[in-house]
Amino acid sequence: MTEPVLITTRGALKEAIRRHEGSSLGLVPTMGALHEGHEALVRAVREANVVVVVTIFVNPLQFGEPQDLERYPRTLDEDLELLARSGADLVFAPSAEEMYPQGEPLVGLDAGRLGKRFEGASRPGHFNGMLTVVSKLFHLAQPAPECAYRAYFGQKDAQQLALIRAMVHDLNFPIEVVAVPTVRNADGLALSSRNRRLSREQQEAALVLSRALRLLEARADAHEPLDPDSAVALVNSQNLVDLDYLEVVDPDTLEALAFNCHQTPFTGTALALIAARVGNVRLIDNLPLGSVDPHPGSCEA
Ligand code: PAF
Repeated sequence: MTEPVLITTRGALKEAIRRHEGSSLGLVPTMGALHEGHEALVRAVREANVVVVVTIFVNPLQFGEPQDLERYPRTLDEDLELLARSGADLVFAPSAEEMYPQGEPLVGLDAGRLGKRFEGASRPGHFNGMLTVVSKLFHLAQPAPECAYRAYFGQKDAQQLALIRAMVHDLNFPIEVVAVPTVRNADGLALSSRNRRLSREQQEAALVLSRALRLLEARADAHEPLDPDSAVALVNSQNLVDLDYLEVVDPDTLEALAFNCHQTPFTGTALALIAARVGNVRLIDNLPLGSVDPHPGSCEA
């Protein structure tokens, strides 16, 4: 187990990347409070890249309420232990002043229409701030041009992933975005830094999210009508869980699918998205539906 090098300034990061030059560099942007999901992610990056860079930065631009930013867990020592175990080479953990020397930047990215839906509907500006920091991190960690450059994100944040892919495509970033499947606990709950704020009873109640997704998955696999209303009813039967949305969408654009999920047998591929509050903790999860057909999902009428 080798200790990763901890770096806190942009200049030192650039210099360390120059010194660690290899044929490929894998970047994992995080906000810290790392858990086994991140560990699996970093191990996957380690296997596929010569240099592994992890960033830990709680990005003020993507928080609405100042209390949420203050309350966000900061666990740098534990994070560094986990990163040493999983094989990171460089850890970039800058201060807010280092990332935004003039305070909130004058210019940022706009996540467009998709940035205002789903998670964006209850967190105005969140995805603009997220894209702005991710674009900065992509620039700061960029290796020499001959080096393969990849960035890794968890599939659990499906909307974030779709927006980052769109940014890379639309703005021609020289980077490959790799999605890493969601890691779940033995009961099916998607791992998240927020789970530590759930009581045991709330954790038990939260399992209804993944159960609802599995119900849709089973129907998709059997080419039956998805009938999302019955999955909604399942979630609503758990009174500790307050459902925000459960939707079946195109896996790439997250647009609604042009079919009747209620009555028509499912073919193709889709993505089921769910978000709910359990107590004062907001949880999200998603599951790809129908993995065989490479074409976007449809229920043929
Ligand atoms: O998913 C996260 O942890 C953050 O949104 C990210 C991508 C690190 C940007 O701050």
